[in-house]
Amino acid sequence: MINDKIQIIRPDDFHLHVRSGEALKSVVPHTARQFARAIIMPNLATPVTTVDQAQSYRQAVLNAVSEDLDFEPLMTLYLTDKTSAEVIKAAKESSIIHALKLYPAGATTNSEAGVTDINNIYPALEAMQSVSLPLLVHGEVTDPLIDVFDRERVFIETILEPLIQRFPDLKIVMEHITTKEAVEFVTTTSNKVAATITVHHLLMNRNAIFTGGIRPHHYCLPVLKREEHRKALVEAAISGNPKFFLGTDSAPHPQSAKESACGCAGMYTAYNAMELYTEVFETAGALHRLEGFASIYGAKFYDLPQNKETLTLKRESWEIPASLSLGQAKVIPLRAGEKCQWKMINE
Ligand code: NCD
Ligand code: ZN
Repeated sequence: MINDKIQIIRPDDFHLHVRSGEALKSVVPHTARQFARAIIMPNLATPVTTVDQAQSYRQAVLNAVSEDLDFEPLMTLYLTDKTSAEVIKAAKESSIIHALKLYPAGATTNSEAGVTDINNIYPALEAMQSVSLPLLVHGEVTDPLIDVFDRERVFIETILEPLIQRFPDLKIVMEHITTKEAVEFVTTTSNKVAATITVHHLLMNRNAIFTGGIRPHHYCLPVLKREEHRKALVEAAISGNPKFFLGTDSAPHPQSAKESACGCAGMYTAYNAMELYTEVFETAGALHRLEGFASIYGAKFYDLPQNKETLTLKRESWEIPASLSLGQAKVIPLRAGEKCQWKMINE
C-alpha cells in the first residue's frame, strides 16, 4: 500500500543548536513549526553553565516563537571540570533543566571549556545519578592520534563502558550516534542508556563529503561514516526499539564559516527535518515506525508527557531554498536547491 499522507503525534527534537541573538531568531521558528519541544544544547560561545544563564537563554528562545505556536525549550547545562554537586541540585530544583551535556574539551564547536578528564566530573555525575538528571554525551575521544573516523568507537571502549560500570543508575544519552558499534553498544547495554540519531547520518555516508569536490555543508561532527554504518543506523531507527529516538543536531553556521579554508562542523537541518526523516522511514519501508521514533520514545526516556497535537505530512515534491537568513548572514540548509518528497501541512 502506498501512503500519500501520514499523521503522527507532534514530534520532539532531542538535540538542537539554536545559537543566540539574531541567529537564534532566524532558526527557532523553523523548529517550532514542526516540533513541540526541543533539547537546547548549551554550547554557546559563552557556555550555559548555570541555572541563571539557562533561564535567560530559555526566555530568548521563547521570545523567538510566534504566538500561534506552542513550543517548549528543554534546557541543558554544559559540564566543565568545575561543575559542582550544588549546581546539579539547583538544576534539578529549577525544573527547566532536563539534562547536562558532556563535551570532551576540543571535541567539537565551542567545546574548549568542556571536560578535560572524565574523573573531574565524578562529583557532578554522582549528583546527577542521585537526582535523576540525564547525562548527554558527545561521544568522541579527542586524542589527535586517533583516526577521526574511529573516535566514536574508541570513546565507547575507553570512556563510556567504564562510566556505565561506575554509575549504573545514571541515565545517559549517546548523542548523534554514527557507527554500527554505537548501535550495538546501546542495544545491548542497560536500559538507562539511549541514543539520538540525526537525519543526516541516516541519509548520507562519507562519500557525501567528497561528491565531485569537497562539500563543506556535509561536514559535521561526528563526521559521516561508511555506508555499512549508515545502514546500521537506519536499522536502529526503524527497529521500534525505544532506546533510539530523534535528535536532529541541527547546527546553524553562517555560510562564510562553512565555506572557508577551515570550515566549521555542523549541518543545518531544522528547516526540513521532519520531511527528511519521513523520507528515510519511507525508503526503508517503515513509515509505521516513524511516530515511535519521532514522538514517543524520547519523551518516555526523559519522563515527559506525550504531546497532544499532531503533525501531518503529505507526499509532495518541493524545492528547498538555496539559502536562508541567519540574522544578517545566510545559512545553507541540507538539500539546498534540491527536492524533498514529503511536505508538512497544517491540519
Ligand atoms: C555542533 C555545533 O555546531 O554546535 N556541530 C556539529 O558538527 N554537530 C556541535 C556538536 O553537536 O558536535
Ligand atoms: Zn550537537
